[in-house]
Amino acid sequence: MKFPYGDKVLEHFKNPQNVGKIEDPDGKAIVGSPACGDMVAVYLKVDEKEHRITDIKFESYGCASNIATGSIITELAKGKTIEEAKQISWKDASEALGGLPKIKAHCSVLAVEGLREAINNYEEKHGLIKEKKPTTVDEVKRRLKNVMNPLTGLDVVRGNLITDVKVEEGTVSIWVDLPENHIFASNIQEEIKERIETLWDVKKVELHFNPSTA
Ligand code: FES
Repeated sequence: MKFPYGDKVLEHFKNPQNVGKIEDPDGKAIVGSPACGDMVAVYLKVDEKEHRITDIKFESYGCASNIATGSIITELAKGKTIEEAKQISWKDASEALGGLPKIKAHCSVLAVEGLREAINNYEEKHGLIKEKKPTTVDEVKRRLKNVMNPLTGLDVVRGNLITDVKVEEGTVSIWVDLPENHIFASNIQEEIKERIETLWDVKKVELHFNPSTA
């Protein structure tokens, strides 16, 4: 069988660089692919004076292409300022890997998105967001698409667990179709809060679980 991957991709797949988790990261993101449901997590340590990435690690629950891209983008991003690292594209990753099969583009895009979201998380936590757009229901839902229900492996939006979202004067209210004592309710609550609370104009996140499903 002929592999669709070149030598460089296989090298990074078999021996990925910067794999793992950073405890107490300055920025982090977990993103999921709508195409296949796989996920990638990116963790950053950033020097606060220059906003330079001093350490970066990733964890991939995706395929070879995703692992190889995760490996190469962490190599490309290490030592760069966050502004420089934001410019790293799927094309840069693909070039550095000597080309990626087109059919696997979404897997590689996912790794790049993980890097960008982790930088965004750092910027939000440090008040560095320049374009301060008011938070909308759509933006909240976009972020919720990266919160997984570990029981089903589906994100909470596609798994139909979010029944309503309201954004009013700095308070984001989210209705979740799970009982409060569900085995993963506290995990899901924590993940939702982590993703929404960093938005610059959000003061409070209120979760409403569904008592009738208890
Ligand atoms: Fe899901 Fe590649 S098939 S990340």
